[in-house]
Amino acid sequence: MTKFHVELKRVVDNSYSIEIGRSLFNTLIKDLKNGLIKGVEKYALITDSNVKEKYGNKLLNDLKLNGFTCSMFSFPAGEKSKNRDIKAQIEDQLLEQSFGRDSCIIALGGGAVSDLAGFIASTFCRGIEYINYSTTLLSAADASVGGKTAVNTPVATNLIGTFYQPKKVYIDLDTWFTLPIREFRSGLAETIKHACISDHQFFEYLEKHLDKLIISDQLILDPKTCEYIALKNCQIKYEVVERDEKETNLRQVLNLGHTCGRAIEALSNYELLHGEAIATGLLFQSNVSKKLNLITEDEHNRIKELLTRTGFKLEVPNYISNLELLQKMYTDKKVRNGKIRFVLLERIGKVKQFEDGWFSTYVDEQIILETINEMR
Ligand code: GLY
Repeated sequence: MTKFHVELKRVVDNSYSIEIGRSLFNTLIKDLKNGLIKGVEKYALITDSNVKEKYGNKLLNDLKLNGFTCSMFSFPAGEKSKNRDIKAQIEDQLLEQSFGRDSCIIALGGGAVSDLAGFIASTFCRGIEYINYSTTLLSAADASVGGKTAVNTPVATNLIGTFYQPKKVYIDLDTWFTLPIREFRSGLAETIKHACISDHQFFEYLEKHLDKLIISDQLILDPKTCEYIALKNCQIKYEVVERDEKETNLRQVLNLGHTCGRAIEALSNYELLHGEAIATGLLFQSNVSKKLNLITEDEHNRIKELLTRTGFKLEVPNYISNLELLQKMYTDKKVRNGKIRFVLLERIGKVKQFEDGWFSTYVDEQIILETINEMR
């Protein structure tokens, strides 16, 4: 027998910056001219059908006018498009247009775009550079930062994907002004989640300043408040990601509300927006935390109140049966030894770390079903 040792130790620096500002196309172009990405000959602008019309054509034109070789690839807007077929279609188009290792992907859009385009970047030619240009609060709060990329399958959401960090993230606050109210509200669910997991003061800030962002069905979008929540979302998320990029344990806290929320989202056939489902999931997990005597009734009610004021329905839709919802939760990536695990709150601003060191725990099915029934 012969043995050969493969020595492959690496120190990897995946650091990057996030630029928060207004109308950042010129900043992006300046960065590219200043060598943000080395050795790139071609840019693939990946976006969806909505963003293509709103911003894609303009960015494509600006890039070309500035001498960059660039093509745009778009897919039908919506989470339903975040699937393996669309990924393969775009990859084939990239290959047909001779994109290769000397290419860079610019993901322009919301969460579905950055998840899909980032996943393509991570596997195309075994990995090419990519940039996220975020056009929604939801992606600014979550998908465009942190390096998770994925597609959904009929069985489960986000289980096929990679950890792959972008070269830079641009959060364009001006784009929030053109968001439909449901989309903006959806981003607020992830923002409230961030406050719940790690920042009590930020939660209080949201309670006090919600009216500067949204009142009933009207977008207010006070510029300073927008900038502040964009920054806080990044700070809170990165405190977690910097310590546990690959979700060995701590990063699970970012999944608060997602075990139930993701299941509802998928069972609604993506008719509910991500944040709409996550808001229900957040309340569900707060409710379970209360039942297990972790958070107080008062704190649970504060979470409910903030989510209600934001305009969320917070109900498990009647077309989803208890059994369907329970079964769907078993496709969550935190399932261990066939058991569903939940991230739970100790108080507003603190996730419970359990005695075994884990930030998620097994919850009895009886409690899960009881909680679902209470949210009908
Ligand atoms: N969306 C959860 C995370 O980025 O880990």
